[in-house]
Amino acid sequence: MSASDAGSSLPAAAPPTPIDVFAKAREHERVAQLKAARELGLVPYFRVLEGPTLPVVEMEGRRRIMLGSNNYLGLTGDERVKAGALEALNRYGTGITGSRFLNGTLDLHLELERELAEWLGAEAALVFTTGHQANVGTLGTILGPSDTVIADSGDHASILDGVILSRAKLRAFRHNRIDRLERTLEKAAQDGGGILIVVDGVFSTEGDVSPLPEICDLAARFGARVMVDEAHALGVLGTRGAGSCELLGVEDRVDLRMATFSKSLASCGGVIAGPSEVIEFLRIQARPFIFTASAVPAAVGAALTAVRICRSEEGPRLFARVLDNARYLHRGLSELGFKVVEPTRLADGTEVVTPVVPVVVGDDWKAVFLWKLLYDAGVYVNVMIHPAVPPAGALLRTSVMATHDASTLDRALEAFAGAKRSFEAEHGALPEGASAA
Ligand SMILES: Cc1ncc(COP(=O)(O)O)c(C=O)c1O
Repeated sequence: MSASDAGSSLPAAAPPTPIDVFAKAREHERVAQLKAARELGLVPYFRVLEGPTLPVVEMEGRRRIMLGSNNYLGLTGDERVKAGALEALNRYGTGITGSRFLNGTLDLHLELERELAEWLGAEAALVFTTGHQANVGTLGTILGPSDTVIADSGDHASILDGVILSRAKLRAFRHNRIDRLERTLEKAAQDGGGILIVVDGVFSTEGDVSPLPEICDLAARFGARVMVDEAHALGVLGTRGAGSCELLGVEDRVDLRMATFSKSLASCGGVIAGPSEVIEFLRIQARPFIFTASAVPAAVGAALTAVRICRSEEGPRLFARVLDNARYLHRGLSELGFKVVEPTRLADGTEVVTPVVPVVVGDDWKAVFLWKLLYDAGVYVNVMIHPAVPPAGALLRTSVMATHDASTLDRALEAFAGAKRSFEAEHGALPEGASAA
């Protein structure tokens, strides 16, 4: 008698209890946290804007000082950028309804790619619909399962998503620790595949800067390629505003540079720039480029105008203004006794200021309480809690625009002073002193 004959005489086994894939939507720890925060009126996320992103915004029925935007140059409200968007809208319509690969490439995309490649001093550039897709598309295509990618532990989530898509071996090193990178490279050299080091030029949460010259030295020693995410550096750092690679003098040593249009360029979209052979390969191979609709014309027109403003004589004045504002806010917050993340100090002692000025709080709930006091006092800031930051590393991520004036920043500082007094009366002292990233 065969096993199947024996089985046929037994009653059929009951089907296993089905697992509901929606269960996590009910049971996830984040859902419980959100519910608790809602009941207390303490949700810092999904707040609703009722007007444009400017230094002072209309938000939920009142005017609030915006210290939580990546509109670093203040160009979202610039009449020329709006006109660039409108012109593109009028000429090409509201949408392109197709992929860049098929019916979705405009002459405007190609013009933007040429202009970005020139600005970044790269052979070629490729424009994606978002910055997230630029990272995922590049990493997911250029890396394969036999390669190793080495990432800073503070890298943006889109870098990790690209690595997951590629199925390359991921080796992370401790944030900005060159000694750890060196050890990681030694291990990666034994993996047997190609090696790519990928870092944020300016880290999105803490606003500190990667030690790019040292990273390039190590990459050269180990035969690794280097990619830098310039999302928070393009249009801010360097004499040309070309980002952290320009500022740190490594433009010729970095292989690929990614940036987004959703910060200084006051729009939405992303770009990867580098050698023509790589860019052309991505153009025909990157799934997040091919299998999605191309950016709407207004977004492309706005980004192109913003790039041209950055590259005009006006650019350096805007870059200087946003960094002056960052220094002003940093000094003001430190004088009030907040623990503010210090600007990165380079090997030669130079300090690199970026528009991101984070206030360290530590405990997640305390950060939310402080956020609420500020919100009620008319100041919007972003709250970063675990896992966006390490456990017990919650912070308020404030960021400035070139268009904030001193009196607006002073009013924000007064609100911070009042919020600190109220917070400490109820919850005890906030962390003090300078903080390294
Ligand atoms: C460092 C970094 N890289 C990539 C991205 C993704 O860009 P986008 O918002 O344009 O998709 C962001 C945006 O938050 C970022 O901060």
